[in-house]
Amino acid sequence: MRNLLMIGALLMSTAAQAADWKLVIHGGAGTIERDRITPEQDRNIRAALDRSLAAGSDILAKGGSALDAVEAAVRVLEDDPNFNAGHGAVYTYEGGHELDSSIMDGRTRAAGAVAAVTTVKNPISLARAVMEDGTHVMLGGKGAEEFSHEKGLEQVSNDYFNTPERKRQLDELKARKVGYYDVDLKYGTVGAVALDSAGHVAAATSTGGLTGKRWGRIGDSPIIGSGTYADDRACAVSATGAGEYFIREGVAHEICARMRFKGESAKVAADAVMAEVKSLGGTGGVIVVTPKGEMDYSFNTPGMYRGKASAAGRSVAIFGDE
Ligand code: GLY
Repeated sequence: MRNLLMIGALLMSTAAQAADWKLVIHGGAGTIERDRITPEQDRNIRAALDRSLAAGSDILAKGGSALDAVEAAVRVLEDDPNFNAGHGAVYTYEGGHELDSSIMDGRTRAAGAVAAVTTVKNPISLARAVMEDGTHVMLGGKGAEEFSHEKGLEQVSNDYFNTPERKRQLDELKARKVGYYDVDLKYGTVGAVALDSAGHVAAATSTGGLTGKRWGRIGDSPIIGSGTYADDRACAVSATGAGEYFIREGVAHEICARMRFKGESAKVAADAVMAEVKSLGGTGGVIVVTPKGEMDYSFNTPGMYRGKASAAGRSVAIFGDE
């Protein structure tokens, strides 16, 4: 009888713990307003965000790791043409695609990142392979491609990333001679942060960067501490926006540091750091989860593709007033 009671108590505590998982995703921030999005785009984007949440939630609800969940959630968005990552990545000035990605495990603060890869179907999985190999944190260009071949990850030709809408955006950028920061023509970086039922957090981010980028430009997404950071002592963060400003502010690490050293909540820290980004001239947003179960967004743009999931359910949103 005593043993049965103990097993019962153990099962109940496991069930309670498994209910504590959280997942937050983003698919980019920018001038996202109702009159700029067709009903079909609205439906497709919401459906893709929900599929991403479902992929990560399935893992977390079964007691899987935050790391597996963020990778799975980001892969769904990389495979969807509506987002600026993987299939759907923006074009460089020369008409190709160069992809950046990173991932971090808050349990160990192990991290992996890749920059300017051109033939890796899912850069987030390559970033994870870099992290698991453990020798280096960040690989770039040809070397990262070679590493991907060695690890047997799926390769594609660079034109796999072509989509008509991104080509139209490049053509428009060239025709109008506007800069990289014309918010109509960029953004759509994707990311996920999660808390698992063991109390660990993780973060992942993936992007095609900026439309019309040149000279091997690399943004914040593969920079650990700028676009991505995870630390069980504070939080997990993934960012989207004008990468140069996020690098200068060290956004993701700064949010975690404010929480650790100033004792701020996720919301207070994220809003404060996004205000700093704005004061430098940068726009974009962040998603945050904490080991305590806080789930927050902060963005200084009219909208951000985003979603949240927990044992209580899933929700997605696009516009700032949702
Ligand atoms: N935040 C994505 C980039 O600037 O590349």
